[in-house]
Amino acid sequence: MKKILVTGGLGYIGSHTVVELYEAGYETVIIDNLVNSRIDALDKLKELTKKDITCYIGDCRDKELLRKIFKENEISGAIHFAGLKAVGESTTIPIDYYDNNIGSTIALLEVMKENNVKRIVFSSSATVYGTSQEVPLKETTSLGATNPYGRTKLFIEYILKDLYKSDNEWEIAILRYFNPVGAHKSGLIGERPNGTPNNLVPYIAEVAAGIRPFLRVWGNDYDTKDGTGVRDYIHVSDLANGHVLAIKQLDKVHGLLIYNLGTGIGYSVLDVVKAFEKASNMKVPYKIFDRRPGDIAVCYADPTKAKEEMGFVASRGIDEMMEDHWRFQKNLYIKK
Ligand code: NAD
Ligand code: UD1
Repeated sequence: MKKILVTGGLGYIGSHTVVELYEAGYETVIIDNLVNSRIDALDKLKELTKKDITCYIGDCRDKELLRKIFKENEISGAIHFAGLKAVGESTTIPIDYYDNNIGSTIALLEVMKENNVKRIVFSSSATVYGTSQEVPLKETTSLGATNPYGRTKLFIEYILKDLYKSDNEWEIAILRYFNPVGAHKSGLIGERPNGTPNNLVPYIAEVAAGIRPFLRVWGNDYDTKDGTGVRDYIHVSDLANGHVLAIKQLDKVHGLLIYNLGTGIGYSVLDVVKAFEKASNMKVPYKIFDRRPGDIAVCYADPTKAKEEMGFVASRGIDEMMEDHWRFQKNLYIKK
């Protein structure tokens, strides 16, 4: 059976997608340079899938390595997760972000083309909607970017669109993720941020685990129900399933497809704190701080297109997201 090349497959979303792919009957081969993951994720993936997954430890910008992977495996297409993703860090080391995110995409596309493999699913982000406040965000909402990370996602979207225009044999799915949280039910895989987490739920988990004294809530003077920022949190396993559906959709519709992957529901920071406390039975103390520069008040998806065209429904609710997130985190921090 031909395999799907999963770049960044040992990372947070990639690893969950590998599990969903095997459950749907696909096989994968992974490339990951471990810049933001650990090799033990591979053992967990083998345990969960009961398959001897082939994984190349190396850089997706390394065309020779990519050529070797294509030579040693029959590849039907790629899901491209590999990239750097921390917004704050991208403003301090922008060249690394442009080099890694755009460089890895170009190397991958070149080697795919050499091998006449023209099917790719790309990890984009709601960040490409920039500062748009036109909620719910539709795929047709105007695009923009406010930081180097966001610009890499936007540029790559344009690169893929130009590629498709130049050769419409390419089959491309651009998936714009909203806020992935949670972890696989087994508690074996999940997000392991390096250093201080920037994102809300990983930070809350460290507060609940007693690693940090309190959550800093960035602003309570937004025009929202309780004044705190509202986002569209989506369970990572639902998000992962969206990739399986995108692959199936490309079987049916050959072209360039763009989908929001979100739930369509917005929760405030304080809603999330409450749900986490309920799920973990732990206290999450918080203090209100000034707004975080660059944050917008409200961001949530219109997920209608993904639902109508490929049957995508993110069915896991906020309580399940928090329960699953905590199950994985507490294994890391508490049950040592
Ligand atoms: P992650 O950091 O957990 O996973 C990325 C993986 O790619 C890591 O395992 C890392 O080691 C690997 N990697 C990075 N650069 C590489 C390179 N040059 N060669 C080989 N491997 C490389 O991140 P994630 O949360 O799983 O995100 C996956 C993708 O989804 C990223 O492209 C990210 O920008 C995008 N995305 C993530 C979010 C989110 O909130 N997590 C939201 C929107 C979009
Ligand atoms: C961030 C990224 C965005 C990325 C998205 C999903 C920024 C500016 N944007 O968006 O590009 O696509 O993650 O990974 O980083 N909050 C707190 N205290 C905290 C952390 C967060 O109050 O310690 C609040 C934020 O102000 C926001 C909400 O929680 O209202 C969610 O924040 P976060 O998890 O960082 O995600 P986004 O801001 O949506």
